[in-house]
Amino acid sequence: MNFFSYKNGILSAEEVALDHLAEEVGTPFYCYSSATLERHYRVFAGALPLDSLIAFSVKANGNLAVLKTLAKMGAGADVVSAGELKKARAAGIAADKIVFSGVGKTSDEMRLALAEGIYQFNVESEPELETLNGVALELGKRAPVTLRINPDVDAKTHAKITTGTSETKFGIPFAHAREAYKLAAALKGIAIVGIDVHIGSQITDLEPFEAAFRRVRELTTILRSDGHAIARLDLGGGLGVPYIESNQHPPDPVAYGAMVAKVTEGLDCRLVFEPGRLIAANAGVLVTRVIYVKRGDAKTFLIVDAGMNDLIRPALYDSHHEIVPLREPEPGVERIKYDVVGPVCETSDLFAGGRGLPALKSGDLVAIQSAGAYGAVMSSSYNARPPAPEVLVKGAEWSIVRSRLTHEQLIAEDHIPGWLAG
Ligand code: LLP
Repeated sequence: MNFFSYKNGILSAEEVALDHLAEEVGTPFYCYSSATLERHYRVFAGALPLDSLIAFSVKANGNLAVLKTLAKMGAGADVVSAGELKKARAAGIAADKIVFSGVGKTSDEMRLALAEGIYQFNVESEPELETLNGVALELGKRAPVTLRINPDVDAKTHAKITTGTSETKFGIPFAHAREAYKLAAALKGIAIVGIDVHIGSQITDLEPFEAAFRRVRELTTILRSDGHAIARLDLGGGLGVPYIESNQHPPDPVAYGAMVAKVTEGLDCRLVFEPGRLIAANAGVLVTRVIYVKRGDAKTFLIVDAGMNDLIRPALYDSHHEIVPLREPEPGVERIKYDVVGPVCETSDLFAGGRGLPALKSGDLVAIQSAGAYGAVMSSSYNARPPAPEVLVKGAEWSIVRSRLTHEQLIAEDHIPGWLAG
């Protein structure tokens, strides 16, 4: 459930009409709803064992104001870079609620995370383990570690966002787990605290999760019998969200929580979760204005002022985002099939092909929905387009939480070497 709805005929975020924001902020822009972020967090937290740590996956939406909204609800953070770690800390997330994932942590990043005193490192390979050990010893510390195990389970999601099969770069193969834990136990700078697993994203079926978690359970018993202290299980993120209202909905957090409780029963482990999309996706929209309606031979194009540089998901994963006009359509109004495209010079700059929408004209506003996760964070300035700014709404209040760069600011990022000066 989210808090975007038509009020007085205009799509609104909570109490704020989005056409008003378009006038004030300019288009395109992202708009997030605090009440939706809070609700998603609360529903997820309510479905899990009380003592669980919910480490919001910062890669889904790293805006400081979004992170702070979640921090105030009690969220921790799942980070994958020094930048994300610093963002999480800047948003007020306590270091002991931060987990550090990713296959390519550098020793500098490890040093920073150890100095901050983070909750755990989710280590993905033996060489990473050795490097972390070296850094920890150098600092006179012991790094709390879970090893990310690749359970070789197919998450049945888009190939570009599946991570739990043996084909991918992620995690330590299940068959090598005992060896890897043995190595970890022998390293003085490493303190084994548990096991980590993450099998992919936008997973719409409980079955692959359950299969992966059963393997983690199996491994917990094996590793304990080998003498390792397995006190926490990090079960990753990945729970899917509805991108299309009419579609069958993915499992709700309550069903997920019940499955987790069943599979982990009696293990006496603290559970860690790393949700991203579930919390943020349907808490954000991308508002864009129609520049031209272009009638081609075969198709009619709605050329809008947002582009693939602002929201790359459709171009990258063929992902579906609902698109709705800001002005509420009359019931039963005729729909026209549009290809909704951006101004970027790429054929893949296509938000939706053959999408039925009420007749629209130049200047009209539309909202691309479910854009709160993997939207702004994946934006770029391709075609020298300043990425869309971000606005956060709370009730009747709103604030620009990331500004639009000016062209001059973008240009100032480049530097002319001495030999070209003059
Ligand atoms: N934990 C780890 C270790 C991850 O790699 C990810 C996402 C998450 C948690 C959060 O997963 P979520 O709950 O959001 O599904 N850009 C793609 C998604 C990439 C996901 C990468 N890892 C997209 O737009 O669909």
